[in-house]
Amino acid sequence: MSKDNQSNHSSQDLATFAKKKGFIYPSSEIYGGLAGFYDYGHLGTMLKHNFQNVWRKFFLDLNQNFYEIETANIMHKNVFKASGHLENFADPIVHCAKLAKNKNCDWSARADHLLEEHTKQRAEDLTSEQLTTAIKKADLKCPECNSELQDVETMNMMFPVNLGVGSKGSGYLRPETAQSPYVNFKAQYELQRKKLPMGLALIGRAYRNEISPRNLTIRLREFTQAELQIFFNPNLIEEHEDFESIKDVKIQTLLLEDRKTNKIVQRSASELVTKHNLPKFYIYHLVKIQEFYLNHLKIPKTHIRFYQLNDKEKAFYNKFHFDIEADLNTHGWTEIGGLHYRTDHDLSGHQKVSKTKMEIFDEQSKQKFIPHVLELSFGVDRNVYTLLDLNYQKDQKENKDARGNDVLNLPKSVTPFTAAVLPLVKNKQPITNKAKEVLKLLKDNNVKTFYDEVSSIGRRYARADEAGIKYAITIDFDTLALDEDSDPKLKDTVTVRDRNTSEQTRVKITDLIKEIS
Ligand code: GAP
Repeated sequence: MSKDNQSNHSSQDLATFAKKKGFIYPSSEIYGGLAGFYDYGHLGTMLKHNFQNVWRKFFLDLNQNFYEIETANIMHKNVFKASGHLENFADPIVHCAKLAKNKNCDWSARADHLLEEHTKQRAEDLTSEQLTTAIKKADLKCPECNSELQDVETMNMMFPVNLGVGSKGSGYLRPETAQSPYVNFKAQYELQRKKLPMGLALIGRAYRNEISPRNLTIRLREFTQAELQIFFNPNLIEEHEDFESIKDVKIQTLLLEDRKTNKIVQRSASELVTKHNLPKFYIYHLVKIQEFYLNHLKIPKTHIRFYQLNDKEKAFYNKFHFDIEADLNTHGWTEIGGLHYRTDHDLSGHQKVSKTKMEIFDEQSKQKFIPHVLELSFGVDRNVYTLLDLNYQKDQKENKDARGNDVLNLPKSVTPFTAAVLPLVKNKQPITNKAKEVLKLLKDNNVKTFYDEVSSIGRRYARADEAGIKYAITIDFDTLALDEDSDPKLKDTVTVRDRNTSEQTRVKITDLIKEIS
């Protein structure tokens, strides 16, 4: 991450860079692309997998009774009847009036986003009627043909799937990974010795027929979520066994009462419990999410906040709902995840529709209840976008002191490669052999390493910077004491160039692993 994070890139700059380096680019591109679908190239795939692995390690380690599962993406339609998605999972849509008259304009957009772009104010809590009135008042017209707009309607975002022969809409692509752990709850609870809290984590695909997909991977129709569903005793929501250890941690909050000033207020965990009546079990996990971003992804504190949603903005299944937001250089504050207290909404729904008993007898408390769910939800593609956006440093061509290439200051935890091994010259023995030896040493020690011998050393440094590689290790004539005037002290040393500072230091090969780990 650059020290000040004051990058001056636009979203177009970032999209161009992501495509040029093979991180992310439109899917089916040779056929003109498909709105809302993106592919990850090799660097993007490594970055995404690394994010997922850091997420997995951090959140599964929160409790010995948290596990990961993997499940089908297409689910029974009754799953979504029970969860309420078939009825409630809809977004407001506005069409060009010409569409109704069968004339030649079929423009449509998500109504709240259209209004937000115009007023620069959040509109997600407005009803369809309120949106219609506000759009009329703002005199917004169809951007394609300048006609009037129709009244706002709602559109369900689920993708039905025809399975087998002649079975219309018998399944649905899941719109969130969450429903899979819910329908697996009973079986997993019994397998895991009937102990609460129990966590089921899932990293997988979700599908939504978004009205206006946009902004690279910010709004997709197929995307990856990393979600942890924690099933717990609702009578113990005011407790968490480790709360004492985090009670003084300051959290970046923007509560409903802060909306007037729109400023982040740092509040301690205990203050959120005592003054703002938020349960300890909820706040403990808010603190852990902040720790994940600050300590493991190295996002600067000023670029993360927890935004409290009001009753109209909250998802239909939530009692408490904070969005996790990142302050992006390209789009400002953007939702990248959420902490959701879903109560027994989903398990009760599944009990009713499937007739499978979700109520349990809890041996620890000797109580009978349907467990409640706390959901830690993360959009993986939005998080990858955040990592690219906040770490991308565009080449400052106008600045003569700049290094002359783009740089991606990714933290070591997620960077596709930690090190690049660069023999000073190509195909020249014994330099090549020594370089391959160093490459093996690094790989044997689990350092993600890239080997590059093509083009000038300057160009290779630039390529390493652009791929986010933290250390460029050069094997030169001094490493082998090949020059007559070589300093014998430099034998068996290499130069290690740090991506962030471009500084080079001479390091003994025997100290290399220690030095860069
Ligand atoms: N299970 C809860 C749930 O799905 P959500 O707020 O609808 O909650 C969670 O989605 C996260 O998934 C969001 O915070 C966002 O990061 C990501 N997400 C949602 N819709 C998305 C889309 N169309 N494209 C990319 N990411 C999306």
